[in-house]
Amino acid sequence: MTDLNQTLKVAIEAARKAGAVLQEWSKKFTVKEKSRANLVTEADVNAQEAIVSVIRASFPDHSFLGEEDLNIAGAKSENRWIIDPLDGTTNYVHGFPFYAVSIALECSGLLTVAVIYDPTRDEVFSAIKGQGAFLNGKPITPSEIGPLSDGFCVASLPVGAKGNELQVTQFLRVLPHARTVQRTGSAALNLSYVACGRIDAYWSGSLKPWDQAGGALIVTEAGGRISKMDGSTFDVDLPNLLASNGRGLHNELSALLSAK
Ligand code: IPD
Ligand code: CA
Ligand code: CA
Repeated sequence: MTDLNQTLKVAIEAARKAGAVLQEWSKKFTVKEKSRANLVTEADVNAQEAIVSVIRASFPDHSFLGEEDLNIAGAKSENRWIIDPLDGTTNYVHGFPFYAVSIALECSGLLTVAVIYDPTRDEVFSAIKGQGAFLNGKPITPSEIGPLSDGFCVASLPVGAKGNELQVTQFLRVLPHARTVQRTGSAALNLSYVACGRIDAYWSGSLKPWDQAGGALIVTEAGGRISKMDGSTFDVDLPNLLASNGRGLHNELSALLSAK
């Protein structure tokens, strides 16, 4: 077994532990608002603690970046774990079963290992750079839908979005051209679903690194395409993502999303 396979095993163990924490807290959490409509619960915080404790036991000198005030610079700072313990907190709070744990390892700026775990369906999406993407251990590929007019698309809007902002305008601009444009509430699962063909394209202009790191690697390893909305090179630290099956609809969306 290579080191990266061992690393993936640790990441999956951490994601499963976090998923168990989410399910354990699902009937007893309390909700706080970090800012308007931006929710957090004990489940978010405790799931993050579970992840960090599993990963640090194997990699004590790595760096960590996570949504719940997690920012640790390790001695081997070129290895950075990017963690969202609960992607889809609003769904979780309302009992809408579409949320996930997302864990990625970036090595010297390259996304290298990724796990997204959906505890309600017991689905583990995973990838290692250069080795393909998997759902519960079986290889996955994106859909074969070509034109945007046939496309099942998803967009994320910012938490607490206002009616007049650019991302709402972009959403409305695409709407008449696609078969549908949905909004699901979990960026990590949207990306996993692009990777396995359940969603043809997904975009957002408001994601944080922890929302998109794991999913970006899983999409590219499955054979899909990730870029900024204008088609240029994706950067995990910037809120500008267009993911798709890599067919014609990618460029169609890019033109619509970046039109002035
Ligand atoms: C959110 C989800 C959502 C996206 C938001 C994110 P959270 O993550 O990924 O789909 O639209 O921008 O903040 O807060 O539930 O971890
Ligand atoms: Ca998130
Ligand atoms: Ca989160």
